[in-house]
Amino acid sequence: MDLSAFPYLQGNYAPVEEERDFDERQLRIEGEIPAKLTGAFMRDGANVAFQPNHYVYPLDGDGMIHAVYFRDGHVEYKNRWVQTSHLKTERKFGRTIYGSVGKLLEVPQEVIDAGGEPNPIRNTANTNVIYHGGKLLALWEGGFPHLLNHDLSTVGLFDYDGALKPGDALTAHPKVCPDTGDLISCTQRWDSPNYWVQVFDARGRHKQTMEVEFPRKGIIHDLQITGNYVVIFYAPTYHSVEKAMKGEDPFVWEPELGTKIIAVPRDGSGNNIVFETESFFSWHFCNGFEAGGKIIIDYVWINSIPFAQAQGTGTEKQPRRMYRMSLDPKTRQVTNEQFSDIFCEFSRVDERRMGKVYRLGYATCSNRDWGDAHGYNCTGSFDFNSGETALWEYGEAANAGEPVHVPNPDSEREEDGWLMCFVHNPGEGPFLSILSAGDVAAGPVAKIHIPGRVPNGFHANWMQGLTL
Ligand SMILES: [Fe+2]
Repeated sequence: MDLSAFPYLQGNYAPVEEERDFDERQLRIEGEIPAKLTGAFMRDGANVAFQPNHYVYPLDGDGMIHAVYFRDGHVEYKNRWVQTSHLKTERKFGRTIYGSVGKLLEVPQEVIDAGGEPNPIRNTANTNVIYHGGKLLALWEGGFPHLLNHDLSTVGLFDYDGALKPGDALTAHPKVCPDTGDLISCTQRWDSPNYWVQVFDARGRHKQTMEVEFPRKGIIHDLQITGNYVVIFYAPTYHSVEKAMKGEDPFVWEPELGTKIIAVPRDGSGNNIVFETESFFSWHFCNGFEAGGKIIIDYVWINSIPFAQAQGTGTEKQPRRMYRMSLDPKTRQVTNEQFSDIFCEFSRVDERRMGKVYRLGYATCSNRDWGDAHGYNCTGSFDFNSGETALWEYGEAANAGEPVHVPNPDSEREEDGWLMCFVHNPGEGPFLSILSAGDVAAGPVAKIHIPGRVPNGFHANWMQGLTL
């Protein structure tokens, strides 16, 4: 592959070519692994198998999961592609067939005649991996999830026993309610501007659908729950399939329209509350909760959708900051304030506090100049009680992934858990970093060094109790 034309396939963004298995003898452990953890840290990401025709970071590229399994203080590592029908078709033909969401290509008739995947929109399965209701799922917001076995082998597309209809696209950012175990998710469709909140119970059975009508199909990536609401951001950004099929820039940013915030009551009443504010974009929420009659939302703010102006040219250097938003359902008033001036993304919390009052948010952060093919070289914590931010820098040129909070099984306290993320530090190589959730600035309590590169990726989770 010659990837020189693609800024977001350089350095540690470049794909790996092999699926690998490393046992404890091959992994080098520095420090002390928390002894009582039973489960797996898994992270999804884009890992092109064939040279792409076009590449829009962070939407394209075949999904690959990297996993570190923990049991009785012992660890194992695996990485596997998600075997999507698009990837299987390209493997059969030995070449790239499909385009990107920024530039769709007609599927050749010979591919369709040979039984290859006919949909020009690639289900990459590359964005997130979750474990809910006993099912391990690789997610991508443009289509169905893929069901995986614990060893990362692919079972196939999963439609929640028929709850998802052909054309439904399930978000990659569902939230689990810590009180009920429900998975609060949503579907969108390529052929409708509307949005459907979907609730699946703790066993993964479909429970509830709530429709939200929109005039135009927006790019809505994440959702946040609070005790009574599902909150979404409707920014003035849109994607046009027609433009993508013509090879034109399909992403639109119309800031004069402002950003709307929609609070959908979880009781299904349909009495949605719409808030209006000046335009901004966000990929990710940190957390949200209700207090004093207000809805509080913490999230990573961006001034506009990063790739709307110039795809693949590094426009991701726009500032990103942790913000706290306060919404008053009675007056519809919105206050939106920067919480920290640290450049950050991939914000997370202790999932036991999801939708509830909490103290600590976490994100991957950068404390260095922002190049065109950037990386985040720190893990950060945001203390919403004290207002303080703490950072651990892995190295000037390091790349650190999304930090996942792993609870301490012996404690209810956020700060007693750990943070895990993959890090690539030139000269040191790739490792899984384990930090104290209460003392990020002290640096890793353990590093699990992996004898093979782990590219930069997207979302990760701790799969409690999942073992091989
Ligand atoms: Fe995301």
